[in-house]
Amino acid sequence: MGRRYSFARSVAALLLVAFAAIAGAVNTLEVGKALKDNETLISPEGTFALGFFTGSLDRRYLGIWYHRIPGQTVVWVANRRRPLPGATGELTLSGNGTLVLADAAGTVYWSSPAVAAPATAPVARLLERGNLVVLDGSGESYAWESFSQPTDTLLPGMKIGLNTGGAFNLSPWRSADDPAPGDFSLGIAVSRGVPQLVVTKGSATVWRGGPWIGDRFSGIPAMKANNQFSYGFKWEPDEVYFRLYLWYSSDATRVTINRSGIAEHFLWTGEKPQWEMIWTSAIDACDSYNVCGANGLCNVRESPPCSCPEGFTPRQPPAGGCELKEPLQCRSGTDGFVAVAGAKLPDTFAATVDKTIGFDECKAHCLRNCSCTAFTSSDGTGCITWFGDLDDVRVYNATEGQELFLRVATSQGRPPPLNSHRHRSFNKSK
Ligand SMILES: *[C@@H]1O[C@H](CO)[C@@H](O)[C@H](O)[C@H]1NC(C)=O
Ligand SMILES: *[C@@H]1O[C@H](CO)[C@@H](O)[C@H](O)[C@H]1NC(C)=O
Ligand SMILES: *[C@@H]1O[C@H](CO)[C@@H](O)[C@H](O)[C@H]1NC(C)=O
Ligand SMILES: *[C@@H]1O[C@H](CO)[C@@H](O)[C@H](O)[C@H]1NC(C)=O
Ligand SMILES: *[C@@H]1O[C@H](CO)[C@@H](O)[C@H](O)[C@H]1NC(C)=O
Repeated sequence: MGRRYSFARSVAALLLVAFAAIAGAVNTLEVGKALKDNETLISPEGTFALGFFTGSLDRRYLGIWYHRIPGQTVVWVANRRRPLPGATGELTLSGNGTLVLADAAGTVYWSSPAVAAPATAPVARLLERGNLVVLDGSGESYAWESFSQPTDTLLPGMKIGLNTGGAFNLSPWRSADDPAPGDFSLGIAVSRGVPQLVVTKGSATVWRGGPWIGDRFSGIPAMKANNQFSYGFKWEPDEVYFRLYLWYSSDATRVTINRSGIAEHFLWTGEKPQWEMIWTSAIDACDSYNVCGANGLCNVRESPPCSCPEGFTPRQPPAGGCELKEPLQCRSGTDGFVAVAGAKLPDTFAATVDKTIGFDECKAHCLRNCSCTAFTSSDGTGCITWFGDLDDVRVYNATEGQELFLRVATSQGRPPPLNSHRHRSFNKSK
């Protein structure tokens, strides 16, 4: 027996041990069984674990974390609002399909919502993608899934957005060891107009990723799919969502919102075993919502960063922002457009979109409506038209942004050239 053979044998032995460890691990909770504080469910291939972890003041929480990645990165928490005071919690599955987290005295700290009563005994299972599901008797559909109750983390396979059942947003932990929901929320805003990715605090928008432009959100130039992960966005009458895809199961990727209200996308790969940041929502002074005011342009490469587009002039304080130098003519047919190259598209809160028309029709469409103030048109966005003030516009460079056309009056009766991009600087007034 040479060294080669014994080496092969030890590898085989190691694999057996690893296999036994996974085979011995449990991923299912049945009716009548309990998952105790010192026990875990491990997903079939060992990527995720469900169990109890300690927060501030020795409080205990039921959560899901990466099983193989050091540092216990928690991606989901059941009882984030109601911590267990000690290690007496246990998770059980009722015959009616609800998961119940209670202590020895029977006090309930969390339970999954009531579901349609399953025909036969349900089971709960931790799936390989980190989704804790309750399978109904047939085992074919999920009576409930943890992916439908996001905490601060978006995993591949999960969605943030809205459907007829409500909104799916991420909210940060309150502090590093307190998973209670913090003040911020990352989600898709669709109150009217065109859906966009936003971070809100109460009713205020604090950051806007902007509308989807075909392969990413307008306000996140660093958002680029690659051969490890990609992004998806769907906007249908009954559903709008954003999601992540991961191409290799040996990698990990997640979007989270941290307690400062900053969205971050991370990637972990075998080649680079650490959480690498792909993009964040806060990189510079122009990322705060509407820093330059209505119709202002924010450009970090200029000093001061705020300026007015061509055809606009700074508004008198205290209003701030910019206003048209000349009122629109509207019906006389002499309005034209100035182009802003490389723009982050303005707040689409009250914008409208028509995916079926091209550039010329889009321009004509805007000119026909006296309240239309701007448009953009591309394969990725379709024809988007804005009405009223343009909020939260920033200028990247031509490769990172979209071309935005602002409606202006032209006293000469001739529209200015569409490629002009000069603007006047002003100091932001409050
Ligand atoms: C968990 O704790 C219980 C007592 O509460 C004990 O009986 C059991 O052996 C422990 N299990 C493990 C895996 O440590
Ligand atoms: C499901 O069963 C649990 C435990 O038996 C009970 O507390 C809960 O009220 C039941 N829910 C419904 C909707 O029947
Ligand atoms: C939130 O994320 C930003 C950007 O990555 C980082 O600078 C900041 O320190 C983070 N805040 C916390 C509380 O982790
Ligand atoms: C102009 O557009 C606004 C916003 O979509 C709409 O409410 C209004 O009816 C339009 N006006 C005309 C004349 O089409
Ligand atoms: C645009 O900005 C990005 C990032 O700052 C830079 O990598 C790229 O070279 C710039 N492109 C142009 C055309 O200036």
